[in-house]
Amino acid sequence: MNGNDYRFLRACRKEPVDTVPIWIMRQAGRYMSQYKEIRGKHSFLEMCKTPELATTITLLPVDILKVDAAILFSDILIPVEAMGVKLDFIDGKGPVLDFTIEKAQDVENLLVPDPVEKTGFVMEAIRLLRKELEGRVPLIGFSGAPFTLASYIVEGGTSKNFIKLKMLMYQAPDVYRKLMKKISKTVTDYLNAQIEAGAQVVQIFDTWAGILTPQDYRKYVFSYTKEIISNLRRDEVPVIHFANESATLLPIIKELGADVYGIDWRINIDEAASLLGGDAVVQGNMDPTALFHPVEKIEEIAADIIARGKKTAGHIFNLGHGILPPTDVRRAQALVEAVHRLGRKAKDEPR
Ligand code: CP3
Repeated sequence: MNGNDYRFLRACRKEPVDTVPIWIMRQAGRYMSQYKEIRGKHSFLEMCKTPELATTITLLPVDILKVDAAILFSDILIPVEAMGVKLDFIDGKGPVLDFTIEKAQDVENLLVPDPVEKTGFVMEAIRLLRKELEGRVPLIGFSGAPFTLASYIVEGGTSKNFIKLKMLMYQAPDVYRKLMKKISKTVTDYLNAQIEAGAQVVQIFDTWAGILTPQDYRKYVFSYTKEIISNLRRDEVPVIHFANESATLLPIIKELGADVYGIDWRINIDEAASLLGGDAVVQGNMDPTALFHPVEKIEEIAADIIARGKKTAGHIFNLGHGILPPTDVRRAQALVEAVHRLGRKAKDEPR
């Protein structure tokens, strides 16, 4: 196979595909016994920072689920740690970050890290993976979007109401803007380094964008993400933008300039396609809890999404957010098989 002629990359480029490509957000994770076995011997951060381990884990879902893309095993908070923020992952609690942002000087104290120097283990994992994956599936690199990363830095972890972040935005907009600029530069350099190392697609996760009103999304987030996308080394490397709970923001998100838009499950994919302007490649959008249904029902839901997905300019099947730890691997396998079977184009059917 020529280096670029993968089903998943073809869909990103709006080219004809033999069937609907699928990968799954968080596809290497705790729902897999093989992951839990490695996790039993290493901390999560150790796994992210050891290229051989990150490579082994990244390959698990490619081998076990037969998905159409690999996504680098890492975390969106890795470059945040490289900015000088103390980071830990605590079992049962998630990420804990130790850094206070109250005044402009606090932002001055954050670094814009050289991605190769400070996160060389990520670039090394990408290089190892490209060798392993050649002729099989393409590799997705990723980063958090600046707003989502700012939320973790300011809140110190996952938040419910994002009160500290909103206070910073509304009461100290200059400090907020300084912070967003610094994170944006970090993200741009980090993604460009991943592309240079061999990432064939990059995905930007704006997990928390959906907490904002459309007005606030436009005012406090949009321009930063758009600028990052326009500053990526784009030749042949598609950019996927994913925002959770983003249905109400899609008419703004469509102007970001990404190649593919990832959506959650709270909107039908055909309606999302229309809000995105009708000519967008759309990624999604099965409810992750749909995998708790019996296989026949999973197929029925997948068939509906695939039928609605015909209204897009290209459909990449995925869940609307990460796969959940109690998921039965066999049902995830059944989903991948069903999407490939149900999405298969009749020979003379135009696409
Ligand atoms: O998709 C993949 O398989 C690639 C790996 C990946 C992970 N995190 C592994 C992970 C990716 C792309 C991420 C992105 C990420 N990390 C996001 C954005 C995507 C999303 O889910 O909205 C966010 C918000 C984070 C931050 C983060 N990392 C949280 C909130 C948590 C704790 C919650 C949880 O699910 O445990 C993590 C930890 C994490 N990241 C794990 C994995 C496999 C679990 C770590 C463990 O084994 O204990």
